Amino acid sequence: MTEARLPDTEPTTDLFTRNGFEGPASLLVRQQYTPTYRKVSGSYAPRRLEPWNSLTEAPDPRDLPVTILRGPRVRIEVWNRDHDTPFAVRDVHHDQLIYVLDGHARLETDFGVLDLDPLDAVLLSRSVSFRLTRVRSLQTLIVATESTLHLKPSNAAVLDPSAIDTPRPYDEPARPDGEHELIVRHGDETTSYFYEQDPVHVLQAVGAPAVQRFSMGAVRPLTVPGASSPPASLVVDPTTETMIYYLGARDTGRPPVHHNADYDEIGIYAKGPGPLGALTVPGSAVWVPKGLIHHGPDEDVPEGYIAWLIETRAHLELTEAGQRIARLAETTAFHVHPSEGAQQS
Ligand SMILES: [Fe+2]
Repeated sequence: MTEARLPDTEPTTDLFTRNGFEGPASLLVRQQYTPTYRKVSGSYAPRRLEPWNSLTEAPDPRDLPVTILRGPRVRIEVWNRDHDTPFAVRDVHHDQLIYVLDGHARLETDFGVLDLDPLDAVLLSRSVSFRLTRVRSLQTLIVATESTLHLKPSNAAVLDPSAIDTPRPYDEPARPDGEHELIVRHGDETTSYFYEQDPVHVLQAVGAPAVQRFSMGAVRPLTVPGASSPPASLVVDPTTETMIYYLGARDTGRPPVHHNADYDEIGIYAKGPGPLGALTVPGSAVWVPKGLIHHGPDEDVPEGYIAWLIETRAHLELTEAGQRIARLAETTAFHVHPSEGAQQS
């Protein structure tokens, strides 16, 4: 392509990236601003998601997580609970990142116990059993991947190793003998095992940690003063299928208009006081499927906010439950799209 002379008004740039933040990038200079679309016909569209918005009218203590977005090897789930789990559960196909939007609970696992608070993110290996006790208004978002998830090694500048917890020993004995159910999740199916003795309690766990926890509130953003730079990597997958980044406020230029050729993006607003564009309610999320041009809000918000980002090569689709909490999004500041009418926020 030969270089064309551009009019005097300021042109806009569109960053076309391969392989997320890691691959080659191209800059497309256009006179017009392309993220703004008038309307869309069809299902492949950016959405605002409101996972805190009740997914079930009358939550049942036996409810398992509700899948809102899914691809062949990746599930994004919501698990809102007011009750302890009357079972233990073990997903044998997926590593999971369990993020606490709100509320509290005790996570009892094969490796010990963690007390969960808002902003906590628990990395849980596949095939680890767990149950939830002392549940109080718990709202979680779960990223489940067939790929292996690891906390990014050597990212001490972003997340101090001392801020990464592993489960502590149980301070209570195993549950008394009786009937104890363990639900094994395998794909879309479950199989229940029933034990006379507590199938989860453990006296000691040594060796490689299969359960780790950090708080999004403990993460430090990566900043390159005066320049727009990629966000800090938090969780990696050796196959690069699914990655987690920190997206909190930082001293940086506004992200460019871009299209991410290979990755669906889901940004989750976690906490204020500052907004992330039009996202102001903790738990609000925006899903931009891969290949759709978008801009996104300024991250340099002096009041500060906490947010994080899922990137996945999986071709995600909204489930029926996901459609109930999804609204069309515009891609400049992530408002509800004007074509959704007067309900925009
Ligand atoms: Fe993006």
